[in-house]
Amino acid sequence: MKKNFVRTGLIGHPVSHSKSPLIHNYWIKRHNLEGLYAAVDLPCETLEEGIASLVAQGFCGFNVTVPHKVDVMKHCHQIDNLAKRVGAVNTVVIQDKKLFGTNTDVFGFVQNIKENAPKDFDFKNGDALVLGAGGASRAVVQGLLDEGVPKILIANRTRSNADILLAHVSDPSRIKIVPWEDKANKDICGQANLLVNTTSLGMTGKAVLKMDLSHLPEKCLVNDIVYAPLMTGLLEAAKKRGNPVVTGIGMLLHQARPAFEKWYGIMPAVTPELEKMVLS
Ligand code: ATR
Repeated sequence: MKKNFVRTGLIGHPVSHSKSPLIHNYWIKRHNLEGLYAAVDLPCETLEEGIASLVAQGFCGFNVTVPHKVDVMKHCHQIDNLAKRVGAVNTVVIQDKKLFGTNTDVFGFVQNIKENAPKDFDFKNGDALVLGAGGASRAVVQGLLDEGVPKILIANRTRSNADILLAHVSDPSRIKIVPWEDKANKDICGQANLLVNTTSLGMTGKAVLKMDLSHLPEKCLVNDIVYAPLMTGLLEAAKKRGNPVVTGIGMLLHQARPAFEKWYGIMPAVTPELEKMVLS
């Protein structure tokens, strides 16, 4: 193999469905680089040996997906502040056989909104209502805090999971946990500038997300991080009543950019061609 061949990949379980190889290998080709991004299926009990094998094979880094985003942290020699605040690592750079962990999901979420929301959308303009308090929600909430959202309301089916999230964020004073059953109430969603679904509800094969949007302000931006289907039931309902919507595919595409830059030294672009490939 050539000396400057840059090997990267994704670890997770399962990984066969992942679009990340498509995205990174598209950029490798587009920028005429020598390299390959591979999907590596690592069941939980093989995480440590799997990582050691990637290091031994000379990988320059890898992405991390479910279920390893938290567990991979104990194998990192260094974790940056952002990943510490999110409590999860989704990108690892390997240098001199040492692992450096970071998190690019926050960038992916924020950039997707910035690029695809109406021009007059401003994170600082009002409340954000976040549905869900799992791993993805942590990155979303951190992004919202970093962008200066004045108040973030979190509704999660299991209250204790929202409490755990609250205990980890950088500024809990701007967060309020609200009952899942009350998310559609006027006093909860009536002031929202942004509504984000971070739960798996609405995803192909999962239960639908039931939420009455009648109290949602018409200007409220609605974003779903689910991207299969691209137009979820929530987005369809929001669009029908005139709310601006942003789909979830951009978060996937944009989170890949800073990871690629760390490994290959080029900040790649999200092109319509790439988006079409990933959605087909
Ligand atoms: P991810 O890393 O993708 O965020 P996760 O950490 O498993 O995945 O989180 C899934 C989120 O979807 C959680 O907020 C979960 O709520 P609970 O904390 O109550 O489990 C939410 N979720 C999943 N199925 C749900 C359902 N049927 N109704 C409501 N919320 C659901």
